[in-house]
Amino acid sequence: MPRPLPDLKYPDQHCDLWSVSLNEPYSEAELFELLSRDEKRRLDRFSNKTARRGFVCSRGVLRRLIGSYLGQNPKKLEFAFNDHGKPRLKDFPNCFFNISHSRDRLVLLFAPCCCGIDIECSTRKVDFQPILRRFFAEEEIASWQLQPEPVTAFFRGWTRKEAFLKATGVGIRGLNKVRISFAPELAEPVIWLDQSFGLNDRWFFEDFFIEPSYPGCIVLQNKQLPIHFHSF
Ligand SMILES: CC(C)(COP(=O)(O)OP(=O)(O)OC[C@H]1O[C@@H](n2cnc3c(N)ncnc32)[C@H](O)[C@@H]1OP(=O)(O)O)[C@@H](O)C(=O)NCCC(=O)NCCS
Repeated sequence: MPRPLPDLKYPDQHCDLWSVSLNEPYSEAELFELLSRDEKRRLDRFSNKTARRGFVCSRGVLRRLIGSYLGQNPKKLEFAFNDHGKPRLKDFPNCFFNISHSRDRLVLLFAPCCCGIDIECSTRKVDFQPILRRFFAEEEIASWQLQPEPVTAFFRGWTRKEAFLKATGVGIRGLNKVRISFAPELAEPVIWLDQSFGLNDRWFFEDFFIEPSYPGCIVLQNKQLPIHFHSF
C-alpha cells in the first residue's frame, strides 16, 4: 500500500490546485494498484511508456487525493462520465475536480463548485496560424493579433478556452459555442457565449503559471475563489 496522505480538508472557500511532475520517482506500481479494473483495461490503449505512466499517475494520484479529502479507501472510489467524457465521482456529487496533462506535468483541481482546468507546455513548437484558424473564430483571432506577445497570448487564450470547455463538460463539441479574448488581466474573458450554456451562470476565469513554461487557466461556475497551490 502507498504511504497514506495526511487527512486533507476539502476546500470550501478556495480551490486546491495540485501539481505533479511525472519525472519524480513515484512508484508506478503502487499507484497502479489503486486503479479499478476498467482503468487497468484502459491502459492497454497506450502504446508508449510515457503516456501509460501519465495515465497511471493521473488516476492513481486522483484516487489518493480524493481518498484523503473524503476519508475513503482510494481503491473503492467509483467514477462516472458525462456524455463527453468528463469524469465525476458516482457517490459524492459535491466533490468537484478536473485534470489536465501536458508533457511531464499533471495538474488536478478540486473546488466547491463545477470546475475546469487546462495547462499547456509553452516551449513546444507551435505553428499558430493553422491552429488558430482551425479552433478559433475570427473575433478571437483578431483579439490574439492585438497582443504584443504572440506566444504568451496564444497559450493564454488556448488554456482559457479549453478550461471553459472542460468546466462546462462539453469538451471539444463546444468549440464553436464560446469565444474568448486573448487579452491579459480580464476577470471574465468571454466575448460571446452560445445560449445553450444558459443565462443564469457566471463563469470565473483565473490564469496561472505552475512554472514559467507551463501556463494554465481554471474556470469556476458561479464562484470567484483564490487558488491554493500544492505540489504532490
Ligand atoms: C478531453 C478534452 C476535454 C481535453 O483534452 P486534452 O486537452 O487533450 O487533455 P487534458 O489533459 O487537458 O484533459 C484530459 C482530462 O480531462 C478530463 N476530461 C475528459 N473529458 C472531459 C470533458 N468533456 N470535460 C471536462 N474534462 C474532461 C479527463 O480527466 C482527462 O484526463 P484522463 O483521461 O487522464 O482522465 C477534450 O476537450 C479535447 O479533446 N479537447 C481537444 C483540445 C482542443 O481541440 N482544443 C482546442 C483549442 S481550445
